[in-house]
Amino acid sequence: MCGIVGYLGSRQAYDILIQGLHRLEYRGYDSAGAALVNAEGSLNVYKAKGKVSNLEQSAAGKDTTGTLGIAHTRWATHGEPNDVNAHPQISQTHSIALVHNGTIENYNVLKKALIQHGYTFESETDTEVLVQLIEYIKLTGGCSLLDAIIEALHQVEGAYAIAVVEENDPDTMIVARKSSPLVIGVGDDETFIASDATPIVGFTDRVVYLRDNEIAVIKRNEPLRIISLENNKPSKIDIQTLKLSVAQLEKGGYDTFMLKEIFEQPATLRDCIRGRIVDDCNRIVLSGVEIHRDRFLNARRIVLVACGTSWHAALIGKRLIQEMCRIPVEVEYASEFRYGNPVLDKQDIVISISQSGETADTLAAIQLAREKGAFVYGICNVVGASIPRNTDSGTYIHVGPEIGVASTKAFTGQVTVLTLLALSIGQLRGTVVPETVHEIASALMEMPKTIEKVLKLDGEIQKLSRTFTYAHNFLYLGRGYNYPTALEGALKLKEISYIHAEGYPAAEMKHGPIALIDHEMPSVIIAPSDSLYDKIINNVQQVKSRGGSVIAIVSKGNRAMAEMADYTLEIPDVPECLTPIVASIPLQLLAYYIAINKGKNVDQPRNLAKSVTVE
Ligand code: F6R
Repeated sequence: MCGIVGYLGSRQAYDILIQGLHRLEYRGYDSAGAALVNAEGSLNVYKAKGKVSNLEQSAAGKDTTGTLGIAHTRWATHGEPNDVNAHPQISQTHSIALVHNGTIENYNVLKKALIQHGYTFESETDTEVLVQLIEYIKLTGGCSLLDAIIEALHQVEGAYAIAVVEENDPDTMIVARKSSPLVIGVGDDETFIASDATPIVGFTDRVVYLRDNEIAVIKRNEPLRIISLENNKPSKIDIQTLKLSVAQLEKGGYDTFMLKEIFEQPATLRDCIRGRIVDDCNRIVLSGVEIHRDRFLNARRIVLVACGTSWHAALIGKRLIQEMCRIPVEVEYASEFRYGNPVLDKQDIVISISQSGETADTLAAIQLAREKGAFVYGICNVVGASIPRNTDSGTYIHVGPEIGVASTKAFTGQVTVLTLLALSIGQLRGTVVPETVHEIASALMEMPKTIEKVLKLDGEIQKLSRTFTYAHNFLYLGRGYNYPTALEGALKLKEISYIHAEGYPAAEMKHGPIALIDHEMPSVIIAPSDSLYDKIINNVQQVKSRGGSVIAIVSKGNRAMAEMADYTLEIPDVPECLTPIVASIPLQLLAYYIAINKGKNVDQPRNLAKSVTVE
């Protein structure tokens, strides 16, 4: 939520900031703004409600010179999206500009105190309080900007990644973080800062991930300095090599990132399993498990924590792990888990699932789990993100940057890694027979080709989508492994087309939702030929007999369903536990085309952001 970017070097900062904001726009697009300090030390600030392109328009023809600048794209938390609430926020004397990702929880208390000291506020943001506080401390204490920021950060409660610049100092940018991500790109005589590495790609591959409670001082012609906010001592600077390319951040000929990411899935799943299935599909190797074999051998319980789509993957993970490892598994929303005073001990394993690795609730959940002594394992996509850096061990899904706000390839990557994880723990504990390992591992090796076949449904789904574009409600039904697939299909439709959709375990439908069914309410029923197929047939009949139309996802060659359902989409046969991967793809495409038919911006749906770094 919210993206920040900054530059100090010899090039003009503005274009770099704008390009960076475009790459960060997935984090929020309620408003955008930039502050530039030019060679004379003047501070120029431009802000606009809405997308980065609005900012470009409003700054056109104005003085955007300067080789130092900071910028922001906002996902509104405090105060409605408008120009005044946009960042950068400026101090009362207009001398300090600050961009912020996070939330200052005690901003009301601080604001009241500053008002008593004669400060007035223009915006409704928590961020303005922070910049005013910095200025107040600087002016009253007669201290440097750095010391004022350090003191102010000691007074604020909450989460932040901030970047600060000051009028009359074209040579200094100060950044700090607590619970919100911040990456520093170290170039030759130039430095970049951003919420994630995407604005830095193409400029330098040398990055430093700022740790919690660290502040960095970036000065022209001086080496980077990082200081711990806990003890004011210099921190070790750990430069890492970035493995992202510009091509990975572009649409590659597709109309949207979402469509590109749906069609990338054969390749991303190939990357996801690479090197992890060995010995002719007879063994799974996950180094995160191997290194900690005793933990997995002695585990008494596993708790999966996640949010949104990742939580749906967790529900599938629960079934996989219970079936293959015979360990009790619970699935919790991270936001509920963290406030539920969970009972945990050393023999519990908490597995967090997160595409971004920055989701505030998931991060807090694992921090709590570690405090309580549990072993924490992370399944994440973004390399070097906060969650993998706060876990005891883990596995990356390696599906590459997911830029479309609606998660697609990350979901299939998460389910794939959960399958590998369940198999690898099962092997270790002797709870899964070698034949099962071989069968599932072989099917996973074939999965890229299998998905290529599923993607051939594209034209058919596009056509089908036209029939349903104007439905107001949808029901998604599935059983067993595909109950979470139904939840995920409904979420995809809701978030990009704004059509109300509910996912339900198919058999539960008759306990309530059946009352909603009429000829205007289509049901999408996920019914591959698995162990629950005979049961789900009854549910299809229940919908049909009430006048509802049925779109059924079935295994290839299922003619019987074609006679019952209004539309069938055939997917290749795979082992039952892998059906969610295959069945989710037609659901992604259906949601995609319905949203496109309605003229929606599928990559940036309203009110959403890719990385939810606030509670
Ligand atoms: C839905 C979606 C969200 C995320 C959720 C968790 O398409 O993308 O529901 O799944 O915000 O995000 P991560 O996985 O980054 O923790």
